[in-house]
Amino acid sequence: MVDGRILEISGLRSGYGKMEILHGIDLDVNEGEIVAVLGPNGAGKTTLLNTIFGLTTIHAGEIRFRGQSIVGLKPYRIVRLGLGYAPQLNNVFPNMTVLENLQMGAYLRGSDPDVEKDIEEVFQLFPEIARRKHQKARTLSGGERQMLAVARALMSRPKILLLDEPTTGLAPKAASILMKKIAEIRDKGVTILVVEQNVHKALEVADRAYVLVSGRIVREAEPKTLLEEGVEKLFFQTT
Ligand SMILES: Nc1ncnc2c1ncn2[C@@H]1O[C@H](COP(=O)(O)OP(=O)(O)OP(=O)(O)O)[C@@H](O)[C@H]1O
Ligand SMILES: [Mg+2]
Repeated sequence: MVDGRILEISGLRSGYGKMEILHGIDLDVNEGEIVAVLGPNGAGKTTLLNTIFGLTTIHAGEIRFRGQSIVGLKPYRIVRLGLGYAPQLNNVFPNMTVLENLQMGAYLRGSDPDVEKDIEEVFQLFPEIARRKHQKARTLSGGERQMLAVARALMSRPKILLLDEPTTGLAPKAASILMKKIAEIRDKGVTILVVEQNVHKALEVADRAYVLVSGRIVREAEPKTLLEEGVEKLFFQTT
């Protein structure tokens, strides 16, 4: 492991069955960073997170988490190693309460006595959902639901958190609030890899960003540089 690198992806080709969606991705995440992967619809952002999490077919390349290859591992093993995932869709159990969703997030921890304490901690981070802990997840607003999805993923005590478009469907103000909470999570020592179409919100908090277009990384830079260049124009280039 290169010093400080928590996640190292090299030459990654993956997709669904024989269909290749990612055509050779190189991407690194350092401990303590928020790294954003920006790209338009269909670029392969979800596929990238699904691949890290063991949910796609890997055709070539390597994924190392803290120096260890995680290629071929089942998702529950990947969670146990310290990766948390808040997916884009179906990221909460709609018929369970907020509290039950958080308990499910800690499922693999078994009867760990610290679970209660961690629930209190995520409620401090997200008072918006603490007030609704006995409410069914399906009754939450869009913003509250996204907060619950992030909170649930935190319950496995991840070292790195993968977030798929957490600001989807949120008004600009709610999106900014959520991104600030994501920065707070980073400040507590959890590394973050977030994929977003919402370039400006993601770049408000990212330490570094990659641009993914048609299954390829076309740019890697600091947020300031990407904002100056106008990232969106990269979204529409043909490769
Ligand atoms: N289960 C699947 N089987 C086959 N193809 C898939 C599957 N899931 C996604 N794809 C295809 O892979 C490509 C990349 O999809 P992906 O969901 O990774 O894009 P995305 O960047 O997350 O887009 P969005 O911003 O719309 O969420 C798309 O062309 C999509 O149709
Ligand atoms: Mg997606």
